[in-house]
Amino acid sequence: MFSFVLALHSLMRWAVVLLGLYATGRAKLGWFFKKPWSGGDRTAGLLFTIAFDVQVLLGLLLYFVLSPITTGAFRNMGAAMQNGVVRFWVAEHITIMLVALALAHVGRVRLRKAASDRARHFTAALFFGLATLLVLIGTPWPFMPVARPLWPF
Ligand code: HEM
Repeated sequence: MFSFVLALHSLMRWAVVLLGLYATGRAKLGWFFKKPWSGGDRTAGLLFTIAFDVQVLLGLLLYFVLSPITTGAFRNMGAAMQNGVVRFWVAEHITIMLVALALAHVGRVRLRKAASDRARHFTAALFFGLATLLVLIGTPWPFMPVARPLWPF
């Protein structure tokens, strides 16, 4: 069960990253070229936040139930915080990703309230862009001390 959910979580990272880049890219172009806000723009943001929500649910399942690293760390948080790798999984990964998720959702709410299409593109570019940047920072890429593979298979 742990390996299955971890593989799914690893795979879903690509959906989140690519949809985040896509939604941000569309918003930047829409803002720059003063395009009308379209159904495609709305769908891009919607798919990004749905993929993000699913990814966070998988992450929380790993975090609280399945991961031997985090569930083991809960037994002695003091010691866990002394170890950089364990601290990444117990504190840094979850915190960065929850802040990114909040930004994506706040962005979607503010989009609906925006006064013009230009403001809508600006809001999407800002909030989806910041959320995607945080996702990229909080992901355990192979070049980081907490290195994990790019692909689960
Ligand atoms: C609240 C949100 C999240 C939580 C609680 C969470 C939690 C976790 C946990 C517990 C692990 C497994 C550590 C272990 O090996 O035991 C993990 C691995 C991982 N997470 Fe997350 N995660 C979250 C969001 C995300 C997001 C948004 C992404 C990227 C879009 C992401 C990408 C990854 C990757 C790439 C791995 C390594 C997978 C592998 O080893 O193949 N996580 N996460």
